[in-house]
Amino acid sequence: MDILEKIENLRKLINQANMNYYEKDMPTITDSEYDKLMNELIQLENSYPEYKKADSPTSKVGGKVSEKFTSYTHRYSLLSLGNAFSFDELRAFDQRVKKSINKDEIEYIAELKIDGLSIALIYHDGNLIVGATRGDGSSGENVTKNIMTVEDIPKVVDVKGDFEVRGEVYMDNKTFDDLNEARLTEGLPQFRNPRNGAAGSLRQLNSEVTRERRLKSFIYEITYSNDLDYKTQAEALKILKNYKFSTNNRWIKGNIEDIIEFCQQILGERNNLTYGIDGVVVKVNSLTDQLELGYTEKSPRWAIAYKFPPEQKETIIENITISVGRTGVLTPMAELRPTLIGGSQVKRATLHNEDYIIEKDIRVGDFVVLQKAGDVIPEIVKVVIEKRPFKSKPYIFPQKCPVCGSEVIKIEASIKCTGELYCPAQLVKGLIHFVSRDAMNIDGLGEKYIEYFVEEGLINTPVDIYKLKKEDISSLEGLGEKSANNIIEAILNSKNRGLGPLLYGFGIPLIGNKGAKLLAKNFRTIDSLISADKEDLLNIETVGEKMADSLIAFFKESRNINIISELKDLGILMDDDTKSLSDDLKGKTFVITGSFSNYDRKELTNLLELHGGKASSSVSKKTTYVLAGEDPGSKLSKAVALGIKIISIDEFLEMIGERLKKDEYN
Ligand code: IVH
Repeated sequence: MDILEKIENLRKLINQANMNYYEKDMPTITDSEYDKLMNELIQLENSYPEYKKADSPTSKVGGKVSEKFTSYTHRYSLLSLGNAFSFDELRAFDQRVKKSINKDEIEYIAELKIDGLSIALIYHDGNLIVGATRGDGSSGENVTKNIMTVEDIPKVVDVKGDFEVRGEVYMDNKTFDDLNEARLTEGLPQFRNPRNGAAGSLRQLNSEVTRERRLKSFIYEITYSNDLDYKTQAEALKILKNYKFSTNNRWIKGNIEDIIEFCQQILGERNNLTYGIDGVVVKVNSLTDQLELGYTEKSPRWAIAYKFPPEQKETIIENITISVGRTGVLTPMAELRPTLIGGSQVKRATLHNEDYIIEKDIRVGDFVVLQKAGDVIPEIVKVVIEKRPFKSKPYIFPQKCPVCGSEVIKIEASIKCTGELYCPAQLVKGLIHFVSRDAMNIDGLGEKYIEYFVEEGLINTPVDIYKLKKEDISSLEGLGEKSANNIIEAILNSKNRGLGPLLYGFGIPLIGNKGAKLLAKNFRTIDSLISADKEDLLNIETVGEKMADSLIAFFKESRNINIISELKDLGILMDDDTKSLSDDLKGKTFVITGSFSNYDRKELTNLLELHGGKASSSVSKKTTYVLAGEDPGSKLSKAVALGIKIISIDEFLEMIGERLKKDEYN
């Protein structure tokens, strides 16, 4: 991969992660993975300045403003902070600061870096008039109504004129755990971490929901005021406290070594806090020094965030369970002895797939090191082999779907259930696919109705679709005679779609639309496909080992065969309905090379297929004829070498009784 490609790749990954984090409130990578990507990108962009770009994620802060709220343009942008991942990086920051303002001693203030959502609170003549999120830094979402429900935010302060403060809105660990517990029982998706809990709660359209989420705040900055006088950040914090803002009291002042000691202390204590933090913010205390140091495009030169290394804990794998997703993928989960890490209880960790378990040799009963980086997804770092129980056995991945008992098939790293037509875990998704346009094309029976009918217990397999009666559905809420009629008619119309769409609709792993068409064309009837052995399947060009195995596994399962025969009894066409002109070329494989004055290649391919022949793109022993035109390429010499019969266009046309030239043919 060249450098530019690498840079572009990193930008794509980071943009995607930003979107998931800031806009969807559902992070997909851990904070430390994110930091790693970002650092790599920063370094590459610094080494290759010719590839710098204004819209690179390195020069942006945060996410886009959601359209749910009106936007609020910040008077001063909300910036981000540079990161230090080690104490040496903190010392380097200290050196930079000293050099830049030419001082030998600097007093810093260190505060906890609260893992919440940054907010700006704007007051006019003592009244809170706007609460806004950071958004993209220059404008955020106006969430005033929701901010008003956060109890510890003063709605009235004794400060004249325009006054703005900034801080974090957060959700404490207990509230977060309770919220997720409640969501679990309600079947709602879990929030990944308290930060997402806070973001999701603050960005609610209904502020009563926000109120119930019991958010809290820590305010750490006076952005502007004509009414207040302070010379250091420490004084600002004291003023904020006096005005009844909730300020965090765990802060210290001192030189860089004092600050490092504080960071060490906090590292040891962070588990005992009732809220999440992801580091310590180190700021130059004097505001005059801050002013002199100024800002880079993205962050102040007078502050830096010391980021904690991901927290690690040891625990035991009590069991390994398997869940089956809507697409039939079996995902192994480690059921852990519950342990508190990164501020919340962790009971499970994904083991991703079989290869991951094999690679790390993870077994039930193992002691493992668990890591929760940036409080996102807990992951297993390694097995503590020294503590492995004497009788431990390697974990064997199930060979049958735990939900429906079907065979499973391995596709790349994933193990998939082959019961797409009946497995309850895949039912809805499988049926939606079955009725989709390239499959049975049952117009009018889309996702919405499939979900509805499955919920009502009306359909459990594709067979039930064809058994649906108008009376079954017309009485359902939201459906009347007319829509029921339309649906039933669309179902009837789909019966003659033919073998290709039907096969595609079955959702057999690795059999896409094109593959299904090809199989239909070659085998013509479902019965000949069912009775095909692996060799027959492999004889078809583009059918490889894996596709063949997948088909064989599918047809081996008696429940699939039953469904097929029931569908047949219900009158579903099981043959290829593409019109065929003759069987004259049956079993013959052609390779076409060179050009022809009256036909193009596609037409010739169509023509030979209409007469039962097969077209192939390369010459092999399996080739019956090479159809050669003008300027034939290397295929001709290969045919000669292999002793394959070479024919002209006239001979070909003769074979199919087609003596007309193109003009007449049309
Ligand atoms: S000072 C110019 N102090 O961390 C930005 N930020 O990674 C000055 N944060 O956007 C920010 N606790 O949302 C500051 N005690 C603290 C903080 C803090 C959390 C957040 C803030 C900021 C982000 C930067």
